[in-house]
Amino acid sequence: MNDRATSEAFIPFTLPENFLLGTATSGLQIEGGDQRNSWYAWAQKGRISDGSSPIVANDHWNRVEEDTRLLEELGVHTHRMGIEWARIEPEPGRYDSDAINHYRHEIGLLRDAGIEPLVTLHHFANPLWLEEAGGWLRPEVIDLFDSYVERVVVDLGDLVSDWITINEPNVYLAEGYVFGEWPPGRQNPIGYLRGSRIMIAAHERAYGTIHRIQEGAGRSARVGVAHHIRAFEPGPRPGSRLVARMHDRLFHRRFLDPMSEHSDFLGINYYTRDIITATMNPGQLFGSRSLPRDASTSDLGWEIFPEGLFTVVLELYDRYDLPVFITENGLCDRSDRKRATFIYEHLLQIRRLLDRGVPVERYYYWTLMDNFEWALGESAPFGLYECDFQSQARTLRTSGRFYRDLCRAHGVTPELIRDINENR
Ligand code: FCB
Repeated sequence: MNDRATSEAFIPFTLPENFLLGTATSGLQIEGGDQRNSWYAWAQKGRISDGSSPIVANDHWNRVEEDTRLLEELGVHTHRMGIEWARIEPEPGRYDSDAINHYRHEIGLLRDAGIEPLVTLHHFANPLWLEEAGGWLRPEVIDLFDSYVERVVVDLGDLVSDWITINEPNVYLAEGYVFGEWPPGRQNPIGYLRGSRIMIAAHERAYGTIHRIQEGAGRSARVGVAHHIRAFEPGPRPGSRLVARMHDRLFHRRFLDPMSEHSDFLGINYYTRDIITATMNPGQLFGSRSLPRDASTSDLGWEIFPEGLFTVVLELYDRYDLPVFITENGLCDRSDRKRATFIYEHLLQIRRLLDRGVPVERYYYWTLMDNFEWALGESAPFGLYECDFQSQARTLRTSGRFYRDLCRAHGVTPELIRDINENR
C-alpha cells in the first residue's frame, strides 16, 4: 500500500482476523451516583463550564444491561471500561463488596456477549479521602494504589486478563497541577514533576502485583498504561525544534521511557497534532501551540490529523518494541458529519502500520456514547450513540452504524465507502 495518506480517495481495506475493534469508556464519565470522588467535589465548586456534574452522567451504574446491549448491537470485539477506586474503597481500608460485585456482574455481561474486557484502574478520578490527603503528590499513594489494585485483581482476575493501570498520567498532572483546570486545581509545575515520579512508581508496583496475582492463580495477564500522545511538530521559527523536543521529553518520554519497561503493550490515546513554535517572550519558555490555518477540526478545535497516528506509533514502536493498542481515538462532532470519515482515516493509518510490520493489535473508539467530558461537562459529544441526558435515551448515530458495519466486516467494504461519501 502507498505510504502517503489518501484522505480524498477512499479505498476499501480489511483488517487481520485477530485485530480487535472496540469502544472505550471510563467509570466516572458515565456511571453517575457517586459523591465521594474528586470530580463530584470539583463540580460542586462550580468548575464545570456548562454547570453540569457527574452525579447522573449516563446513569450507567443503573443501566449496565442496557449499555451492554448497545455494545452488542455495535458488535465490538472488545471494550475498554473503567473501575472507580472511590466506589471500591469509599473510605481508607474499607472495601465495598457490593461495588466489587457490581463490576463482576458488568464484566460478566461483557464476557457472556463475547466481548473481551480491557479494564482501567485509574482514570482521572480519585476517592475524596485520597484527594483531601494530598492525592498523587504523597508517596504513600503508591502503597494505597497497590492495595486497591490487589483487591480488584484478586476479586476480578478470573474475568479479566488485560489491564490498564493508569490513564494519561501526563494529562492528569498537566490539567491538575500546571493549568489548574482540573482537580486539585494547582498551578505549580513542581507538582507535575513530583506527581509523575509517584505515578511512574505506582504503575511499576501495580504491574508487579497484577502479574504476581494472575500468575499465582495460573492465569495470564497483560498490563499497560494508556498514554496520551500528540503529534508534536516544530513551527518555522528558529528554536522551534528545540522547544518541540522539550514538549516531547516532558509530556511523552518522561512517562513512556520508565513505564514501558514495565508494560506488556503500549497503550496510545491519539487525538491530534500541535505545531510548537518558539517565541521571543521569556514568559513562554515552552513556545506557543497552534494548528495549520487550513486545518480541519473537531467541535473543540482539535486538528484532525490522521497521519500523526502513523508517525507517532511508528516512532514509539521503534523505540519500545511492544505490541500496540490504540486505547483511545475519537472525535467531538455534534453534527456527526465528520466522525465516520475520521474513523476511516485513522484505521487506514493502522492498516499502513500493519503493512509495515508494526504489531497494532487493537483499536478503541472513544467513546460509546456522549458522556460527562470532565471540565466541559455534558457539552462535548464524542459518542457513537447520542445521549439525551434528560431522558437518558441513547440513539445510534450514522457514524455508529458505520462503525457497527465495520466491526462486522472486519474492515472497510465498498458499501461502507459509499456510506461515507453519502453522509459527508
Ligand atoms: C482523553 C481522556 C478521555 C476523554 C477523551 C476525550 O484525554 O482519557 O477520558 O476525555 O480524552
